[in-house]
Amino acid sequence: MKFFADTADIKEIRELIDLGLLDGVTTNPSLILKSGGKISEVTKQICDIVEGPVSAEVVATEYKNMMAEAEVLAKIAPNVTIKVPLTLDGLKACKTIRTEMNRMVNVTLCFSANQALLAAKAGASFISPFVGRIDDTGSDGMEVIQEIRQIYDNYDFQTEILTASVRTVNHVKQAALIGADVVTAPPATLKALVNHPLTDKGLAAFLADWAKTGQKIS
Ligand code: E4P
Repeated sequence: MKFFADTADIKEIRELIDLGLLDGVTTNPSLILKSGGKISEVTKQICDIVEGPVSAEVVATEYKNMMAEAEVLAKIAPNVTIKVPLTLDGLKACKTIRTEMNRMVNVTLCFSANQALLAAKAGASFISPFVGRIDDTGSDGMEVIQEIRQIYDNYDFQTEILTASVRTVNHVKQAALIGADVVTAPPATLKALVNHPLTDKGLAAFLADWAKTGQKIS
């Protein structure tokens, strides 16, 4: 399973790279706003340090304008993955970007298995179902991931399931159990995967016993 960081914060991204945990990055207009920088500059800075896909999102809603923005974003770096919304214009743009620009596309704002089916048919590289936002409506985000996995496997679609809007470590575990290809999560959530009270307790006990030996490893 690949780990993408759902952030435009360079410091956080660098920390995950140093930990050896990072396979890519996803951004969106809200994350660019939070970063306080210009989309072209922030995306370039991220692409300079990340080898994997870096999603940058178009903000136009009409096909022609989406394509114009996709051209601009694609010029930033070869690993920029164009993110388009799950609308008819977005799907049309996805098809063109894949076939004519030969670029990776991340179809975002997916909330149902049928939407994911359309994205796969449009040749999307990634589909981003927003599990946290689905949970917020009282439905089960992970059920949607499970349905998409089954549909993609039924027809051997190569589109990767990029579990998005991840809020908890349990979302990560469930996505991994189902067989989602990628999770994108806030860096704090990815780092929280390491936590277990018995690890802390065990380490404290080992260190206390070690201190009693009076030894040093040298
Ligand atoms: C993913 O690509 C999206 O940017 C992100 O996961 C949305 O998450 P949110 O629902 O926490 O805003």
